[in-house]
Amino acid sequence: MDFSKDLICENVTATADGRLHFAGQDTVALAEQYGTPLYLMDEDRIRNRARVYRDTLRECFGDKGHALYASKACSFKRMYAIMAEEGLGVDVVSCGEMATAYKAGFPMERAYFHSNNKTDGDIEYALDCGVGCFVVDHPEELTAISTIAARRGIVQPVMLRITPGIDCHTYEAVATGKVDSKFGSAIVTGDAARITRQALDLSGVKLEGFHCHIGSQVFDASVYIATVDVMVDFLKEMQDAFGYTTEKLDIGGGFGVRYVAADPVIDIAASIREVAEYMKKKVAEVGISMPHVYMEPGRSIVADAGMTLYTVGAVKRIEGYKNYVSVDGGMSDNPRFALYGSEYTVLPAARMGAPRDMIADVVGRCCESGDIIQPDVPMPADMKRGDLVAVLTTGAYNYSMASNYNRIPRPPVVMLRDGESYLAVRRETLDDIVSLDE
Ligand code: LLP
Repeated sequence: MDFSKDLICENVTATADGRLHFAGQDTVALAEQYGTPLYLMDEDRIRNRARVYRDTLRECFGDKGHALYASKACSFKRMYAIMAEEGLGVDVVSCGEMATAYKAGFPMERAYFHSNNKTDGDIEYALDCGVGCFVVDHPEELTAISTIAARRGIVQPVMLRITPGIDCHTYEAVATGKVDSKFGSAIVTGDAARITRQALDLSGVKLEGFHCHIGSQVFDASVYIATVDVMVDFLKEMQDAFGYTTEKLDIGGGFGVRYVAADPVIDIAASIREVAEYMKKKVAEVGISMPHVYMEPGRSIVADAGMTLYTVGAVKRIEGYKNYVSVDGGMSDNPRFALYGSEYTVLPAARMGAPRDMIADVVGRCCESGDIIQPDVPMPADMKRGDLVAVLTTGAYNYSMASNYNRIPRPPVVMLRDGESYLAVRRETLDDIVSLDE
């Protein structure tokens, strides 16, 4: 059987005898060594994607082009160490992400603290960690940051999250740039101008610029171009209204990734160049000076650097109705189909060449019917207990969204590099599961 269309990323290959390889390593051997369920991460791919953003932004904007890694996509200590080595900054959204970065030795002056609701405790902790810049969501938060910073006798650099009013046509749960979004201050309502005035008037903060994020899993550079168009006009308005020259403009997350063969292949560098070219033209046209430009990709740095391996526990054939392949993980390690109906490529990792003449829902072992990894997957008809199943493109928003639902321990994260593998996160144990209980 021709399985070449399943190899949707260059780090996914298969041997002539039908064994799936990832980052050049045999998935069957890795499953034997580390057990399943198992998250695998291809370190070279992570570094390579990080460099594409870093280098292209530098190529386009010189020392004014910067890449931050949106660490909500996948957060554990080793990720921050890799980003530190690659010279990226990071976007952190909680004390948990900040603590992880801090404990990994990440240079916190390169950390940007987002979130639409920072408590006073969060603000104090971020200041303790020496976070470089706060991305401020709303006026009350701005006042709180200024007050706490002033009490400490410091002036905290901030950027303001602006809602540009762009609909990026991704799925609703991840679209964030529309006027009615819970995030940021909208331009059309006048809130963006008002919070800018407020920031300029407060003594505990220094306004460094503006941030926006329109949504995730966006393939089309034209969406970013539309965003730049609105934002550069806004920068000009702020200059005219308040004499304020913007130092930094962050245009948000990165591009979409391929989950299935039908998804487009994106040339990230070419797309960034397209956006950059438009931005330079627009900046010249409105007559403002070029700010430092930031992008903060998450998904496209880690998604296709990830793969999850599972072992089949049961194949249930309900004659005349439906087939199920039950695996030893589920929505507790990958909730994305349950939450968003996300598509995935699911493969029989040890038997890639076998005809796939059974259509089955690949389901997890959580106690609810919605615990589906992927419906309608073609699988070998003689699939059975003990077979290995691989789910591709699980590097983003899988480990980071994993839970202990049903008190299921989370899988380990194993990194693959230069033909070797090492543990980045160990498997949770049953002792971990009960460790917080009094
Ligand atoms: N910056 C901000 C402010 C964000 O909110 C996000 C993603 C990013 C950057 C990174 O965007 P990316 O490059 O990953 O597209 N859990 C959802 C995705 C939520 C995205 C949240 N924000 C999922 O599994 O699809």
